[in-house]
Amino acid sequence: MAPIVSGFSKLSKDDKIKWLAEHHFSNDNNAISILETYWNSDKKLQRLHDEFTENTISNYYLPFSVAPNFLINDKRYTIPMAIEESSVVAAASKAAKFWQNRGGFKAEVLSTTKIGQVHFTYKGDSKKLEQFFISVKPKFIEQVKHITKNMEKRGGGITNIELRNKTDEIEGYYQLHCSFETVDAMGANFINSCLEQFAKTLTTEAKDYDSFSDTEKEIEIIMSILSNYVPQCLVSASVSCKVDELPNSAQLSSLEYAEKFVRAIRIAETEPYRAVTHNKGIMNGIDAVVLATGNDFRAIEAGAHAYASKNGRYSSLTHADIKDDIFTFSIEIPLALGTVGGLTSLHPLVKLALQLLGKPNARKLMEITAVAGLAQNFAAINSLITTGIQQGHMKMHLMNILNQFDATVNEKKQLIEYFKTNTVTHSEVVTQIEKLRQ
Ligand code: MEV
Repeated sequence: MAPIVSGFSKLSKDDKIKWLAEHHFSNDNNAISILETYWNSDKKLQRLHDEFTENTISNYYLPFSVAPNFLINDKRYTIPMAIEESSVVAAASKAAKFWQNRGGFKAEVLSTTKIGQVHFTYKGDSKKLEQFFISVKPKFIEQVKHITKNMEKRGGGITNIELRNKTDEIEGYYQLHCSFETVDAMGANFINSCLEQFAKTLTTEAKDYDSFSDTEKEIEIIMSILSNYVPQCLVSASVSCKVDELPNSAQLSSLEYAEKFVRAIRIAETEPYRAVTHNKGIMNGIDAVVLATGNDFRAIEAGAHAYASKNGRYSSLTHADIKDDIFTFSIEIPLALGTVGGLTSLHPLVKLALQLLGKPNARKLMEITAVAGLAQNFAAINSLITTGIQQGHMKMHLMNILNQFDATVNEKKQLIEYFKTNTVTHSEVVTQIEKLRQ
């Protein structure tokens, strides 16, 4: 077991690696060399990455891919995607190509409100607290002016502050439930700074409020933090076409395909076990764009899954129907994204990703990202209701298996050819590699 280490963060990068090598890798030079292989030779770029976070010892690469041919609101996009899962980019590209000849994707931002809360304890008369809140409300706004000034110039700011009585749920529990518009910024720092100032204003003003008793004057702040649940920061995207424009095969007519597709979505709408996997597939597309554009995929994940449970049961984020011979497939998802601040102006690949998208504002990026999720889900359902997922999946996974066995360029060429007409399974790939090597 490694010993407890103190002051680790203050060690130089080399010393951190030495410590790791000694205590975790039995001084194995291979471990050190792996870490060093991933360093960037451009010292300035490496320093930038080192300083994104603490205790950085190397870089962790993810493939940076692109999915072309996305027609969104009549404009063509090539979407950047950072993801390791083999079939995701291929699936997105395939869906984009399919829909570009059927009117493309339509997307629309429905709302952009973000929420933050100051959670506090007040022991006293709630009516007095309400009166107090009304009288000090202008001060909340006044005392954050230094924080909101710039945001207001850009068209954003605080849009509402409410006092919420939650004492039915927890004794003495109240909130300032605050709404924000952060325009093109994701806005986490802006919101949290405002909230912390609200908390100060709340406690200070309470002390000077004559109608409060001594106990009532002692408001205790529990915490001040934005919420990643953003059901009013919503975007929708959809595709539609005549039923007979949908795929058809010897096994499935276009109408049967449409009905099977709709039924697959109904299952995800009603059955949580299926819904989680279904939404995971949507997030394959969403997260890949969120990561490539330097946004916080954990926040997006948390918000999306919470939204999927908004009616009390976890359900599908996408919906489908057939009406008057028209098949429609749509998504509605909360996406609190930013195109300024954070990594967007720091990380060279993030800057490039945004440039590739034509430097979108946050609303446009919300639309593009929702479309990536819808496209991903279309591709997944299309495979699931026709060939099954493994055929395409394993074809894409073939390269990973070949790389595990250090296949040479020539071996790869021969085996890719072989598996064009044979089913890929791990054991079959191993058998064929061994055969080639005999
Ligand atoms: C795999 O990463 C995602 C899928 O399981 C999604 C789905 O089942 O809809 C294929």
